[in-house]
Amino acid sequence: MTALAEPTAEELAALDDLYADFAAAHMTPLWTQIGGLMPVTPSPAAVPFLWRWSTLLPLARRAGELVPVGRGGERRAIALANPGLPGTAYATPTLWSAIQYLGPREEAPAHRHTQTAFRFVVEGEGVWTNVEGPGGGVDAIAMRRGDLLLTPGMHFHEHHNTTDHPMAWIDGLDIPLVRQIDAGFFEFGPDELATRDTPAASRNERLWGHPGLTPVGAPVPRASPLMAYRWEHTDAALAAQLELAVEGHPGVVGPGHAAVRFTNPATAGDCLSTMRCEMHRLAPGAATRTRRVAGSAVWQVFSGSGTVAVGEETWEVGTGDLFAVPSWAPVRIASDAGLDAFRFSDEPVLEALGLARTQTGDGETGDA
Ligand SMILES: [Fe+2]
Repeated sequence: MTALAEPTAEELAALDDLYADFAAAHMTPLWTQIGGLMPVTPSPAAVPFLWRWSTLLPLARRAGELVPVGRGGERRAIALANPGLPGTAYATPTLWSAIQYLGPREEAPAHRHTQTAFRFVVEGEGVWTNVEGPGGGVDAIAMRRGDLLLTPGMHFHEHHNTTDHPMAWIDGLDIPLVRQIDAGFFEFGPDELATRDTPAASRNERLWGHPGLTPVGAPVPRASPLMAYRWEHTDAALAAQLELAVEGHPGVVGPGHAAVRFTNPATAGDCLSTMRCEMHRLAPGAATRTRRVAGSAVWQVFSGSGTVAVGEETWEVGTGDLFAVPSWAPVRIASDAGLDAFRFSDEPVLEALGLARTQTGDGETGDA
């Protein structure tokens, strides 16, 4: 290969003119940008970050004393803002997560939006989320510790606290993704609650919440028609995996590591079209394999304690603590005492686009 001759002063001046004309015409040459546009592996701006429940909850309580809930602000939700994404209130480039706080007898009015949402309850009970249910109409859904409650996109929803004590929980939404692709639509609902009913079981659970039984004749929407996943079921499934492993049967992710994914009972696919939700359990003394995935995630410790390593960061974590995992950052969780942790990610989006990729600690790479 012949070495290129040094450019002459005349050629350099012509090149400067060319770049100036590119800029004037709102054009940018690829050859000056390729490293940023097409990195060898993902190079996220988001950073691994930990938010401690012991910090979040008192601050949310203070907001409860000072900031009313009502039309306009809509929700007393305080978002996790990743320091690698300054100027945003995003936990990761695709995921928004917040602590939401509702005081005694407070009500949050109805609205709907294209953004998909869920609630996960790490402690407390007494709030009801009324969500547009299967076949339309409002479905009153109790929120209790360990439950996952879905609010698929464009379903009207409202919350109300039926008790004399406050309640806080975690919201997860695909707000950053929807913002990035300019697909956000929002509508107010009625100012008055649609219902104050508190049924023992919501309609969606009565129709769809029976193991392995799909109602014949019921329409199957894109997101899961089952919109409440109760802790007693999640807990029993995780316990059974670990018990079966002890008995010598397969089922766990790895030694001492059980996990379940919250799925649409009609399709076995993810419960939401843009977010994956899972619960992981580590038996005392167990650890996950180191794993990384394309796309980002947020975890919340539900109970127990452990040591979490994400990329270059390592934290001791306990109940309620949340941490953000940027794309392709290796994650490992170990626990001496045992630990349950809720995880949500943007993996359904990457899978739908053919972009999913994983790598486990031994270098094994896959597309799911
Ligand atoms: Fe909402």
